[in-house]
Amino acid sequence: MDNIKLTKDIYYIGKVDDRDVPFHRLILTKGTTYNSYFLDTEKPTVIDTVDMIYGREFVENLSKLTNLEKIKYIVVNHTEPDHSGAMAGLCIKAKNATIVCSEIAVNELKELYKLHNREFLVVKDGDTLDIGGKTLLFKMTPYLHTAETMITYCVEDKILFPCDIFSTHVATFDLFDNLAKEDITDDFIGYYNAIIAPHRNYVKILMEAIKDLDIKMIAPSHGYILTQDIDKYINIYKDMSVIDLNGKKASIVYSTMRNSTKSIANLIKTELENANMEVSLFNANKDDINEILKAIESSDVVLFGSSTRYGDMIGNIENVLKELKEKDLEGKIAGAFGSYGWSGESIEIIQEYLNDTNMNVLNTSNIIKNTGMTEVEFPIRVKFSLNEDSSKEVIKAVEYIKTVIK
Ligand code: FEO
Repeated sequence: MDNIKLTKDIYYIGKVDDRDVPFHRLILTKGTTYNSYFLDTEKPTVIDTVDMIYGREFVENLSKLTNLEKIKYIVVNHTEPDHSGAMAGLCIKAKNATIVCSEIAVNELKELYKLHNREFLVVKDGDTLDIGGKTLLFKMTPYLHTAETMITYCVEDKILFPCDIFSTHVATFDLFDNLAKEDITDDFIGYYNAIIAPHRNYVKILMEAIKDLDIKMIAPSHGYILTQDIDKYINIYKDMSVIDLNGKKASIVYSTMRNSTKSIANLIKTELENANMEVSLFNANKDDINEILKAIESSDVVLFGSSTRYGDMIGNIENVLKELKEKDLEGKIAGAFGSYGWSGESIEIIQEYLNDTNMNVLNTSNIIKNTGMTEVEFPIRVKFSLNEDSSKEVIKAVEYIKTVIK
């Protein structure tokens, strides 16, 4: 594509990929684009690049637009290779450029593109950067959709560069939404469902980050640049990220030695109730097993926890678990938790029992495979008693449960 301008000195320098694009175990049948931007200021700046297979072409095209040695900054909002893929080639030619990114991104970029000897400028939430005639403001948007993610806002032009966020997977040569031949709302929502939805509990951080920004244009890194109805698109993210589980039920069954596992059960209960779920909490050693089983059968989510003593579960919880195999519990989400001091065998034994049912059992491996999330762990294992850090881990896990309840 010829150089397309967003403003008199901000250029689109991306690549349209109109293949069936394999991506996150999906095939993007409408293709996609890798949008990169060049800000031709006194300190010329590139924001994000393109997929690695188009890296050489990208660098060649950019060299026709500007003297690459004069590039002062390369902003990397997100390190996934569909946006950082040209970094190796670009950094060789743009040898005077400083790489601007979040703290987590530094090591990823060094390792991915052998940039150990490059100069990095680490930015934090709210930092600004003068690029000579324009000011860039950076906001951290972790886990949308990976840990290092940030967004960049050009203060003078009121343009938001949010990389993956607010994108569409459409191989459009028209680029701007007002040139689209049909309504792009379905593509926008489809993208949200495919990429953002598993991480939607982090959208509130995004909303907080942009709430005071006057945004006239959103220039994402896939698909259409949004120039009209900006609030409509922001509100789609806001509305689709509200998790209200009114009408959904959970049962939590625990067996506790010194109340640590009970504390985890109570924390999980509180967090689920915050999303308006109806939660039944059972102590396997006190409550009637028939009542427990009845509640399980009418629940959308069932969670089992036990302390570990001498390498095994304690109390009566195994009596409940033994009954599950004979029941049709299809469609329910199940998980294991517990506090432990040494190895926490009981948590793994519970997991084994759950794996023997037809429930959808939460486990770290599947979560990574299905969502790319590495910050959530199942089963939930808490060493000794809950503290500030382990409480945060439990809350993260419960937030994940909320996103997968249908
Ligand atoms: Fe478009 Fe997360 O990459």
